[in-house]
Amino acid sequence: TTTTEAELIGKHEVLPIYKPRDKFSHKVTYGHSVIIGGSYGKTGAVTLASRAALSAGSGLITAYVPKCGYIPLQTAFPEAMVLTSDSDVLISNINFDIKASAIGIGMGLGTAGETVLAFEGFLKSNTSPLVIDADALNIISENKNLLKLLPKQSVLTPHPKELERLVGVWKDDFYKLDKVKSLSKTYDLIVVIKGANTITVYQDKLYINTTGNPGLATAGTGDVLTGIITGLISQSYEPLTAAIFGVYLHGKSADIAVEDYGYQSLIASHIIDYLGEAFKDLF
Ligand code: APR
Ligand code: MG
Repeated sequence: TTTTEAELIGKHEVLPIYKPRDKFSHKVTYGHSVIIGGSYGKTGAVTLASRAALSAGSGLITAYVPKCGYIPLQTAFPEAMVLTSDSDVLISNINFDIKASAIGIGMGLGTAGETVLAFEGFLKSNTSPLVIDADALNIISENKNLLKLLPKQSVLTPHPKELERLVGVWKDDFYKLDKVKSLSKTYDLIVVIKGANTITVYQDKLYINTTGNPGLATAGTGDVLTGIITGLISQSYEPLTAAIFGVYLHGKSADIAVEDYGYQSLIASHIIDYLGEAFKDLF
């Protein structure tokens, strides 16, 4: 048997993590995030994740989408650079010559055959730190051999259904945590188990988040989380630290935003808009 250590994550725990900006810094100091995803009718997920990465402090952001995402991205988010796959409606290839400091992948990606091949090819050549979400997780669940291709310390952000596809069904929460710990240890991965009180798992250690509220149970909030964690890694936070801090900031932003919007009316964009308030609480 192994011992499990669990830590509750609140303001006291993240204060020493937070890195203030240096007066003489330049956008290059804060890295270049790349967000890869989208398919016809689902490029908004990439807009949300990209905006979140930049608002989490990334210096530069490139969104990589199918051609149908080009105008929406450039219109909704002028701060982003946009690159496109060859296909109009899905990601059919992933080629770019940016040295990404962090990559978030999977939001709205779909699981079409061409996309699966493009994703596999990408994993074989990629050397940047990865945050893996949504359909990228679903593709990996269909072909577990891909786990070996993930860079060490990649961050996985499954919601309950995605986690079930990844590790199989569980009898109870203890059993689930054992499965996740074993996945983390076998492939050296960080797994963010999303939900109320999100738990970040690394090897035998659990980090239980204390921010967030049911206002987050709304479309696109997971895409925002992936963007935040990617943007933190791009600023040289270690992946585990970025996951713990990102989950905290995401929940804290929601806690501040519900005071203005209420639980029912909170939408994912508000989480991005209020991220600055979550950071300011740490100044
Ligand atoms: N309390 C606190 N936090 C919550 C709650 C709650 N009751 N419910 C949800 N959250 C948080 C989760 O912890 C997570 O950070 O909201 C986020 C929801 O993430 P996802 O489930 O991934 O939702 P979403 O972004 O809409 O996913 C978009 O991608 O993952 C696929 O199948 C998914 O089609 C969906 C799409
Ligand atoms: Mg999601």
